Amino acid sequence: MIYQHIQGAKVPALGYGTWQIEGDTCREGVEHALAIGYRHIDTAQGYENEDQVGTGIKNSGVPRDQIWLTSKLRPDWFDADTARKRTEESLSKLQTDYLDLFLLHWPNDEVPLEETLGVMREFQDAGRIRHIGISNFTPTQMRKANDILRVFTNQVEYHPYLHQRFVRETAKDLGMLVTAYSPIAQGAVLDDPTLNEIGAAHGKSAVQVTLRWLIQQDDVAAIPKAASASHRESNFDIFDFELSDDEMKAVHALEREQRLIESPYSPAWERG
Ligand SMILES: NC(=O)c1ccc[n+]([C@@H]2O[C@H](COP(=O)([O-])OP(=O)(O)OC[C@H]3O[C@@H](n4cnc5c(N)ncnc54)[C@H](OP(=O)(O)O)[C@@H]3O)[C@@H](O)[C@H]2O)c1
Repeated sequence: MIYQHIQGAKVPALGYGTWQIEGDTCREGVEHALAIGYRHIDTAQGYENEDQVGTGIKNSGVPRDQIWLTSKLRPDWFDADTARKRTEESLSKLQTDYLDLFLLHWPNDEVPLEETLGVMREFQDAGRIRHIGISNFTPTQMRKANDILRVFTNQVEYHPYLHQRFVRETAKDLGMLVTAYSPIAQGAVLDDPTLNEIGAAHGKSAVQVTLRWLIQQDDVAAIPKAASASHRESNFDIFDFELSDDEMKAVHALEREQRLIESPYSPAWERG
């Protein structure tokens, strides 16, 4: 495993994403992921699978303190009363005393950021949220949040086809982790000639090259989703090779401003 060291914490750079995996498939996926070595799990209230993630963690037998567990507060639950109630609910569904990381899932201008982050701080002061983060925040919004409290990460769409240069520069400036979601562009990297060519030189697939490229960067974590066990296994098989500087540059050069994820809460990225 590669770890990223941020603000005194040690984060497994490769995590397991659980969006669109529900029920027994989710529980079994988490159990399997932990059995084969994953130690970082990403869920969210909006994924409606926190129960199964919590049960999967319990069933795995892996001690809680060896797992990095992230969840996210839904943007329509940002007012203080709801945020408080729903954060308690996440802890209870996940069957844990604390979250390693809790994120504001999308920016929501209808509620002052101070109000929601104030609740997050209450939980942090009580030791129930170790680190507070944001997701889908623009560089300007990252700075605004970090002016209120120390923000640990911005979780954003990041893969070879979306460069995220400005988010990465801002994160570096503020000492934050960048967490890459949709890291393999939801499968779009599979047939990429450049990624396949680099992979052939290492005996690896285009997906493995992509994940390696992400976690080999300073202060970047990646959370690929895989409902299938074979995908989970091959995505974890990226710790026995290294990309050269030229190969890293060749993957960066694939960017084409291709954004896959939109939501009613999507910020105006072009205005930064
Ligand atoms: N913060 C946010 O707003 C946000 C938004 C989107 C995603 N996320 C997080 O990021 C995670 C990953 O993002 P994502 O699910 O959008 O996309 P992704 O991880 O880039 O791609 C997932 C897709 O790729 C397939 N796949 C996985 N490994 C593969 C492999 N080795 N070979 C071939 N295909 C493979 C999966 O298939 P199978 O599932 O069939 O195995 C699935 O169809 C989510 O689960 C979630 O935790 C966060």
